[in-house]
Amino acid sequence: MSKNLFRKKSLEHILTDVKSGFSDSEHSSNHLKKELTVKDLTLMGIAAVVGAGIFSTIGEASFQGGPGVTILFIITAITCGFSALCYAEFASRIPVAGSAYTYAYATFGELIAWIIGWDLLMEYAIGNIAVAISWSTYFVNFLEGFHIHMPEYLTLDYFTAFRAHEQIIDLTKSGHLADITDTMKTAALAWNTAPGIGGLKLIANIPALAIVVAITYLVYVGIRETKKATNAMVFLKIAIVIAVIIIGFFYVTPANWHPFLPNGFRGVMKGVSGVFFAYIGFDAISTTAEECRNPQRDLPRGMIYSLVICTVLYILIALVLTGMVSYKNLQVGDPLAYVFIKVGLKKISYVISISAVVATASVLLIFQLGQPRIWMSMSRDGLLPKAFSRIHPKHHTPSFATIVTGFVVAIPALFMNLTEVTDLTSIGTLFAFVLVCGGVLLMPREAAVKGRFHLPYVNSKFIVPILFIAGMYIFWQPFTHMFSGENVHERFPFFLFILLSLILTILSVVKNLSLIPVLGLISCFYLMTELTYQSWIRFLVWLVIGLALYFTYGYKHSVLGKQKL
Ligand code: ALA
Repeated sequence: MSKNLFRKKSLEHILTDVKSGFSDSEHSSNHLKKELTVKDLTLMGIAAVVGAGIFSTIGEASFQGGPGVTILFIITAITCGFSALCYAEFASRIPVAGSAYTYAYATFGELIAWIIGWDLLMEYAIGNIAVAISWSTYFVNFLEGFHIHMPEYLTLDYFTAFRAHEQIIDLTKSGHLADITDTMKTAALAWNTAPGIGGLKLIANIPALAIVVAITYLVYVGIRETKKATNAMVFLKIAIVIAVIIIGFFYVTPANWHPFLPNGFRGVMKGVSGVFFAYIGFDAISTTAEECRNPQRDLPRGMIYSLVICTVLYILIALVLTGMVSYKNLQVGDPLAYVFIKVGLKKISYVISISAVVATASVLLIFQLGQPRIWMSMSRDGLLPKAFSRIHPKHHTPSFATIVTGFVVAIPALFMNLTEVTDLTSIGTLFAFVLVCGGVLLMPREAAVKGRFHLPYVNSKFIVPILFIAGMYIFWQPFTHMFSGENVHERFPFFLFILLSLILTILSVVKNLSLIPVLGLISCFYLMTELTYQSWIRFLVWLVIGLALYFTYGYKHSVLGKQKL
């Protein structure tokens, strides 16, 4: 049994599956259209990356970290850069749909492949719930600009409304009226005005549902239409972001950058979830490998180009934002629009709200496109029912999987809370990155082939031990403090991080591991330790549910398993 759990798909096997159209080879419609070029892929990468993160979650991160949040954008970009290079290596060697899932199948074997496929649901589907909720917030603001007012109870989730109502009662009773924020008031208004039957109130995020339905339809009708829509949206989005940077630059008051780290490094690291969320997406284009004209050359380029462009834009936005107003004012859901209101440019803030609606819609599009393609790969392998790999005869898209994705995202978007879904998405995606970097370490080195991307090999033998010893020396004091005092159990992830770093250091010396994947693995795991303990528990529960599904369905239906019998 344990041997079967780690049964691997050889690269030849994976590539043959795709060439033959796999399980439905008699239907020529099972092939996806090869439409995408490096330009499309770069634009798709940007379309997936620039969204709710830079338009929304940057606000909370800046509030926590002050102008020093810029450092976090740089740290996260470096971490994502290592992972992007590892994704690029995989995309070059295994140019088929399925992203990290397919890569894991070839390197770690079936069980880990299943875990990563299940985990990617967090990045794509759960991530899209977060984006849909954020989209809804901007859309409601945008309607307000046209003097159209939606009832509050149709624009947010049940528990946010309930909590705000309770909070206001508590704050009023204790006399802390000044602590009641506008956001709280709006949410409580939803609670107080919502129609209901008995104790149950009708409170749901209708715009979030509506946008997911609309995007699902677009993805269902085809890649060509999706490509056109994405390209158009992304140009508008980049133009607006650059405009914000240039105009905002003239309104920067350098005094706002002092102190640069008002809450120290710890304050900066509190923003990890929001900042990392802003970078998620460059990897999503790897799910379109079968729709690329030259995936081995273009996918790596598309990923790296989009990541570099977004990093530059993000660092500049973070500097402009924290330079225009004091970081203390940035704990808002629409920080980019808000700073322009603060400096008296209301019209510009309005244009930004419109662009946020477009920007976040394009993120939705990419992830709604990616999730069904991962399921399609898992279904081809027998780990999910066959319906998930069914291709629509006319539209040439994975039709059933697309519709299921629509439901999985749209229904929770009605009632889930933004922060919770952002945290879950970030931890799930970081874990996927950890496995991708680990997967590259397990792959045998390959001779260079002209016209294909190759991860540069640098021996980690000396560099990693030096970094480990330096890290332990610098952080020894805080490290020993971490294991005393209250709630020590909450530091368990950090303990795991130290252990993992030690193991990798030893392996680097013994096995001459490649430096980039080692650094990627360590840095992604480190960012995971900066997320809340609650997120870890939820993540582990999620993985346990996934394992239960694998053992009750996937293990028995695996195509690879049947072939071996
Ligand atoms: N990076 C994507 C966004 O910020 C997920 O919306």
